[in-house]
Amino acid sequence: MEVARIIYGEKTADLPVVTSTEGHIGIDVSKLREKAGLVTYDNGMANTAVCRSSITYVDGQKGILRYRGYDIEDLVENCTFVEVAYLLVHGKLPTRIEVDTFRAYLNEHSLIHEDMQHFFTGFPPNSHPMAILSAMVTSLFSFYPHIMEGDPNFDITAARLISKVRTIAAFSYKKSRGQPVIYPRADLCYAANFLNMMFSSPVKPYDLNPVLVDTFDKLLILHADHEQNCSTTAVRLVASARGNLYAAISAGICALWGSLHGGANQAVIEMLQDIYQKGGSIAKYVESAKSRDNRFRLFGFGHSVYKSYDPRAKIAKRLCDRLLTELKINDPLLDIAKELEEVALKDDFFISKKLYPNVDFYTGILYRAMGVPVNMLTVMFAIGRLPGWIAQWKETSQNETKIFRPRQIYIGPEIREFVPIENR
Ligand code: ACO
Repeated sequence: MEVARIIYGEKTADLPVVTSTEGHIGIDVSKLREKAGLVTYDNGMANTAVCRSSITYVDGQKGILRYRGYDIEDLVENCTFVEVAYLLVHGKLPTRIEVDTFRAYLNEHSLIHEDMQHFFTGFPPNSHPMAILSAMVTSLFSFYPHIMEGDPNFDITAARLISKVRTIAAFSYKKSRGQPVIYPRADLCYAANFLNMMFSSPVKPYDLNPVLVDTFDKLLILHADHEQNCSTTAVRLVASARGNLYAAISAGICALWGSLHGGANQAVIEMLQDIYQKGGSIAKYVESAKSRDNRFRLFGFGHSVYKSYDPRAKIAKRLCDRLLTELKINDPLLDIAKELEEVALKDDFFISKKLYPNVDFYTGILYRAMGVPVNMLTVMFAIGRLPGWIAQWKETSQNETKIFRPRQIYIGPEIREFVPIENR
């Protein structure tokens, strides 16, 4: 067995090296405290492997993303989102029969309990859809407490959640507009079903443009998993305490909402709109992002792992050109985005820090073209991420993972003498 040696003062710790099939290898530091009296300190866990996983592989230097060994480009070109969801949850591409069965489960479990509809009316009119989504997903446990009962293959459990989240998202949009909800239809594919629930109304059926449906399906594939990011770690953290699937996914939704993470797609559109409304001062934005006097960042740029062009952003940019041409939409925000990218990629600050467009840079423009409101952009991301989160929850739950319990470096006061309130 290979070991890595850490020498600290008089103490030496030989720590086992953990190997991988590809990418980073690691040092198992679990005995470091016992052997050398040390813990590791890694701000943001940026250099810490929190698990051994066989779901997704990312090589940030080379711009590689693979689900279960399959390249993202191949999956986007050749698969539907439902097949990719199956792949992530089961670790293998489905046969025709398997995907048909999975699709049937998605249809069968697409409704939400009618009583859950009352919840929507309890939220104030301008509630953020991510707040509604996280609350509704946790609430699912109250309605479906026996989530995994009678499901040895985990198929129904996964399908139920993937399907219901889509329905919840569409219903929350309808409720926010004061319109009647549109129920799911078994004759439509996953992506078309969502768009129909969002944009159809009893007086005007929605015209399902096949390019638009295909674009949405491909976007969902791009979002489907991204190994141990902030929201997935939240899912795994809850799972490690044997938290139920709904609670874990709800935690993931809350983490994804943050503007440095999935919430960046909303922030990107708001930033582009601001540039547009204020007369297109791209240089000012770039300068502001470089400045150390404020906390502003160029949203949709930079990534903790990718130090080259995010492969998802490359595909999203291509999809953007195709969809906007097909729909004959001339979105000034796309022109601004492309110009912003050009300026930033030539700027020494962005070059030296290896900051490239990430997945959120172009996806917001695509969702805008589909008619999705800005505050729902991160919800679209969450719908796509469901299969990945479910697979990560399953892997954590089935692999005897220890409960997440990190250590800290305490920097507060040492013991102090207690002072009664009248003497303070
Ligand atoms: N604009 C300006 N400066 C940036 C940006 C940016 N978008 N991203 C990183 N930097 C700078 C940082 O200020 C830092 O500078 P310093 O070395 O002088 O301190 C340096 O680049 C490294 O940045 P960190 O935040 O330390 O590195 P990290 O790689 O962990 O950050 C993150 C990743 C959070 C995504 C960051 O790039 C960012 O804030 N981007 C904007 C928000 C965004 O688009 N998030 C979506 C990411 S994709 C996703 O989560 C789905």
